[in-house]
Amino acid sequence: MISSSAIPWGYLEPINPIYPRQILTKPSYIIGRHPCDCDITLDSIEFRQHEYFIHLSSKHCIIQCTNNGQTVIFHDTSRNGCYIDGELVHQTKISLEKHEHVISLAVKENQVYRFIRLSGVFNAVQLDEHYLKANLLGSGSFANVYKAISSVTQVRRAIKIINKDQCEKQIGSGFSKYLYREVAIHGSVDHPCILRRFEVFHERSNLFVEMEYAGGGSLFDRIHKTSLMTEEECKFIFYQIACALAYLHRLKIVHRDIKPANVLLMTNERETIAKLSDFGVAKHVYTSSRYLNTTIAGTQQFMAPEVLLQTGHSTNADVWSFGMTLLNAYVGDTVFRLRGIRALNSISYSKRELKEILVKTLETNSFARPDMTQLLRYPWFRDQTCFERVQKLIYEQTGQYLR
Ligand SMILES: Nc1ncnc2c1ncn2[C@@H]1O[C@H](COP(=O)(O)OP(=O)(O)O)[C@@H](O)[C@H]1O
Ligand SMILES: [Mg+2]
Repeated sequence: MISSSAIPWGYLEPINPIYPRQILTKPSYIIGRHPCDCDITLDSIEFRQHEYFIHLSSKHCIIQCTNNGQTVIFHDTSRNGCYIDGELVHQTKISLEKHEHVISLAVKENQVYRFIRLSGVFNAVQLDEHYLKANLLGSGSFANVYKAISSVTQVRRAIKIINKDQCEKQIGSGFSKYLYREVAIHGSVDHPCILRRFEVFHERSNLFVEMEYAGGGSLFDRIHKTSLMTEEECKFIFYQIACALAYLHRLKIVHRDIKPANVLLMTNERETIAKLSDFGVAKHVYTSSRYLNTTIAGTQQFMAPEVLLQTGHSTNADVWSFGMTLLNAYVGDTVFRLRGIRALNSISYSKRELKEILVKTLETNSFARPDMTQLLRYPWFRDQTCFERVQKLIYEQTGQYLR
């Protein structure tokens, strides 16, 4: 277990596997060829055969942490210099401000380490043994999600820390059983387009949920920080989410919080695997009745009318939220100003297959709204080349087939 006297502040992940990985806990580390003067020695039979070995200095650079873990300084002390994210640093000090930086030694192409900033250790004893805590990925009303790095395998994960006390305070005592429902439903599903949940750790006031890490952030970030998505980009992502939802609905699970912030992207590529996450308000629909739940759940802007009006809702409430999420990704936030349906008029006639999907999903009468399996048979989704590209990507990266 990592003791509190040596709280890690950084981690050097080798980009080139000949370099030793290192968890940074001491105030300063000298990196170079000298076997006695350096904390991280870059010398071995393997290193000597490497084409850039002769360009390294005996003390090539220093990485240090000051100001109680707040500031990380990179100091080049070499003959040939270093590159931080491709920018030359030579005989000078710079502060590493971002959560991650790529470090090259001597030659720009010689990418050696990915420096990852850490912000302490997790509290649950079992978690401490496994994970180092990196930056905050996102937060909700009583949960924070952090990036975490396994100290054993160096695999990246996301850890959602749910504060049970906060929950009970805000919603009322006995609420924790709902948290276990989230964790239980999430753990019971297995689909390539649903974020995987691994272990759950308990502590008196916190619940720690270990999940797959989605390196591309959420669809909300993509829509708001990058640019609106083209029709093709939408189809690639929403085809996957439609399959995930159809799967959940076959299991009689209603997600109840479909929105861009709960769709996660595995990479920053335009075409990437998309995964549904956040089972915070998901529920089983046990009886044969399609219209059962009357409690308000979800996020108002994406809520189906029957959920808002509390007239009873079931799995096809997700179909409405799916449509709103797609519309939001395609036309942006004007969808909220123009109240959903009216935003449809701004979509050009040439996009009639897309428009058909939106019109059908945003059908006010929930009885007339298609279910997810029917929706997947509409012409917009029957696009063989898109389907094949999605299948190929998923198979290559997960070994699974999209169902
Ligand atoms: N596995 C993950 N990988 C990357 N980012 C994540 C992950 N899980 C959550 N996030 C980020 O954290 C945010 C909140 O997580 P979420 O599980 O939706 O919690 P909440 O119940 O508070 O909404 C997400 O919108 C997303 O930006
Ligand atoms: Mg969420």
